[in-house]
Amino acid sequence: MQIDAVRPADGRQEHSADGRSVQEAPAQDRLRWGMVEFQVRDIIRSTAFWCDVLGFVDRGRNAGGKALGTTEETLVILHEGAGGPVDRRAAGLYHVAFGVPDQIEFSRLLARFSHQRQMFSPIDHTMSKAIYLNDPDGIGIEFALETPERFGRFSEMTHDFSVYDSDGCRRSGRDLLDVRAELKRLAEGTNLSRPIASGTCVAHLHFQVPRIEEALDYFQAVGFARNLFLPHFGFADMSAGSAYTHRLAFNLWAGRDILPPDSDSARLIRYSLFAEGVTDDCLRSDPFDIDMLLRPLVKD
Ligand SMILES: [Fe+2]
Repeated sequence: MQIDAVRPADGRQEHSADGRSVQEAPAQDRLRWGMVEFQVRDIIRSTAFWCDVLGFVDRGRNAGGKALGTTEETLVILHEGAGGPVDRRAAGLYHVAFGVPDQIEFSRLLARFSHQRQMFSPIDHTMSKAIYLNDPDGIGIEFALETPERFGRFSEMTHDFSVYDSDGCRRSGRDLLDVRAELKRLAEGTNLSRPIASGTCVAHLHFQVPRIEEALDYFQAVGFARNLFLPHFGFADMSAGSAYTHRLAFNLWAGRDILPPDSDSARLIRYSLFAEGVTDDCLRSDPFDIDMLLRPLVKD
């Protein structure tokens, strides 16, 4: 296990020279994901899924595609052109995670998908709670509620992957979420059909790759910090400065000889990344041959 980036938890108490307690401001990320753009087979079918099922707002045409997001912000652009679904045996995006702003919204989405009888996987990662779904082309989608305050530390992880929560209890890091308990947090009469909440954002990207080291080196140069690196588990992730340390992840689970997807496949074709130190927009090709638009980060 390799942990290069250990950051203070939110709101940690420190003391000044005269002994007074000083409330340290929560650390902020120095990189932030922007829009993600996908090539899909049938834009009408995909728009219906993203809007009617997931709750994204149709924001009209943008950048030659269909813009989707919250009422305030475009998060996703869908482009026509794919002839086949996502190739799960090829390198590329494993899933995109959308961060929800609070527990109420997370429980509301769980209730919404349950009510719709959607196929989804609810997983408790301790550092976050997650709902996983696939869109009609097989694009992996996660809704994540980040809960770094529930995380204590990683275990040794020489042969396994597990974590200790903030109470010192050992957990797998991928337990089945207690859906019933999550739904109890929802007030009666909550509107399940309203769009995804303001503040929902692109929270992390997870790629399946043929070589993790190359990906780590590339994104470290962009500004991410190495967090976990578990060669025996075929997994690594990277942080961006805040207490939540999973902003970017890589796995080898599709094999070490995988190739980029056929250009005809449904896939992630472009994403934006706002980074400190970048002064002008700059279009690059990442190690997976996906367009990455690097943009200047303007802090709140
Ligand atoms: Fe994820």
